[in-house]
Amino acid sequence: MNEHQALTDFIEYSPQDMLSRAEANYHEVKRRHSIRQFSSRPVDRAIIEQCLLAAGTAPNGANHQPWHFVAIESDEIKLQIRAQAEAIESAFYEGRGGEEWLSALKPLGTNASKPYLSEAPWLIAVFSQKRGGQHEDGHTQNYYVHESVGIATGFLIQALHHAGLATLTHTPKPMSFLTDICGRDADNERPYILIVAGYPRADATVPEHAKYKKPIEQLVSFL
Ligand SMILES: Cc1cc2nc3c(=O)[nH]c(=O)nc-3n(C[C@H](O)[C@H](O)[C@H](O)COP(=O)(O)O)c2cc1C
Repeated sequence: MNEHQALTDFIEYSPQDMLSRAEANYHEVKRRHSIRQFSSRPVDRAIIEQCLLAAGTAPNGANHQPWHFVAIESDEIKLQIRAQAEAIESAFYEGRGGEEWLSALKPLGTNASKPYLSEAPWLIAVFSQKRGGQHEDGHTQNYYVHESVGIATGFLIQALHHAGLATLTHTPKPMSFLTDICGRDADNERPYILIVAGYPRADATVPEHAKYKKPIEQLVSFL
């Protein structure tokens, strides 16, 4: 199959409109912050579904779409995840993380306690797939798996933010317990990231350290 179709959904904007769209987008994404205090206010599944559909449009190696998302709203499963994550993180913060990593985390004020894992309305476990192709046939090789899943996760975070939700990217190390809890195939899939999504609590805070973003001179070289 090597058929191509005309590109019919590209929209051209004037250069002025492009600049104002680019500025508006920057202002919108600048308001995204990882937060660690979530309200338990519910969020409709339909909203989460649309954000996941957006994530599934991400560019990826050979369009094999080497990802699977497990969207969790079950209180029981969230509690299981919290218990496992807190046990792992206790070991990490008690020294397994190593001095350098632990001191890099100090300004964020994070610790082994993760109440948001059971309090937030949604946890989304992102899995990467080594094999399977578009139809998850179990044998077709996937390509650029890590890069592809990273981009899809970025799309997901952006979609959730755009919809009006706050998020946290959470990566307990190791994360293999997510494979069991989510009932995924440990031979072919790896847990990639856990996204916490919901409304921020009224007293939610943002670490000063996280608000610093590199200025344009440091961020970019134009050649
Ligand atoms: C791959 C990755 C893993 C992360 N893991 C954690 C985590 O386990 N716990 C946590 O509190 N924050 C975690 N974060 C959030 C970062 O601390 C946060 O993105 C960073 O401080 C910048 O802040 P911002 O997201 O508000 O811009 C992670 C972020 C990324 C991209």
